[in-house]
Amino acid sequence: MKYFFTQGVPKDFEEFVEKMEGKESRVNNPEDTDVIFCFKEWTPSDKLVVKFLGEKVHIEKGGKRIAEISLYKNYMTPLWAFVKSFVEGRTSIVSRKWARKIVSGILQGMIALMEVEDVEGYSHSQRVAQLSVKFGKRLGLPPEELERLKEHAMLHDVGKIGIEQLMLYSPTRIRTFESLPQDHTVLGSIYLSTIELLWDVIPTVRHHHERWDGKGFPDGLKGEEIPLFARIVAICNFYDNLTNFVTSEWEGGPKSKEEALQIIEREAGKMFDPNLAKKFVEMMRSLPEDGEDTES
Ligand SMILES: [Fe+2]
Ligand SMILES: [Fe+2]
Repeated sequence: MKYFFTQGVPKDFEEFVEKMEGKESRVNNPEDTDVIFCFKEWTPSDKLVVKFLGEKVHIEKGGKRIAEISLYKNYMTPLWAFVKSFVEGRTSIVSRKWARKIVSGILQGMIALMEVEDVEGYSHSQRVAQLSVKFGKRLGLPPEELERLKEHAMLHDVGKIGIEQLMLYSPTRIRTFESLPQDHTVLGSIYLSTIELLWDVIPTVRHHHERWDGKGFPDGLKGEEIPLFARIVAICNFYDNLTNFVTSEWEGGPKSKEEALQIIEREAGKMFDPNLAKKFVEMMRSLPEDGEDTES
């Protein structure tokens, strides 16, 4: 729901609405909003108007009062829920943000369930997510961005779920899907396109195998055309593929940490964003050999 605030509305309520609805739903023009939260007076409007009048709140539509709520101690959740249910046709009081959390959580759970675990009980996507967050912190990303990055990294290989099912159970279609590495990025993005709440994750899923020099797949994006999260996940994903015994497909088994870092250094500017690759290698070398998870 889109919302607009005037001066004078209690600050804690303003922050509460921002938290529940997301800052991106806040608008600066009262013409574009679903609901106007105002202090004392506001000209009658066809929008829902929520007037703070000291001890109580009036809720009005078209100049007519439809409800009055007293500002007792825990008024914020009921007031928000009332306004939201009114604006959204009384169908739901679940915010988009929460709905997204639930949908994304279910999908992440499925991925963890379907991937092979290592001795510590983590799967590839979980390890890539942990490493991406650690790297994101090092890059100075703010907490909300780190949360998003973790989610994107958890979902980066979502396209493998469908492909592995097809390879197992669908002999006629297996030929179409014989190039698993290429196809999982495309299938993942097609799959996520059916879940509107997760559309913003698509660029990471689709582009985490692009290369800085433009020779990657599926779209041959180059340099900064590749979204930042996809460039971050690409490095963490590669490192995990190289070093973990579950994902490693390299001759002679998994690489050591230092061997992997040397390969990433060599690939800076070819496979990876040179600036990010440099920072990643620096970060990994600064971590103690056996205590890689101590920061998170
Ligand atoms: Fe992948
Ligand atoms: Fe991966």
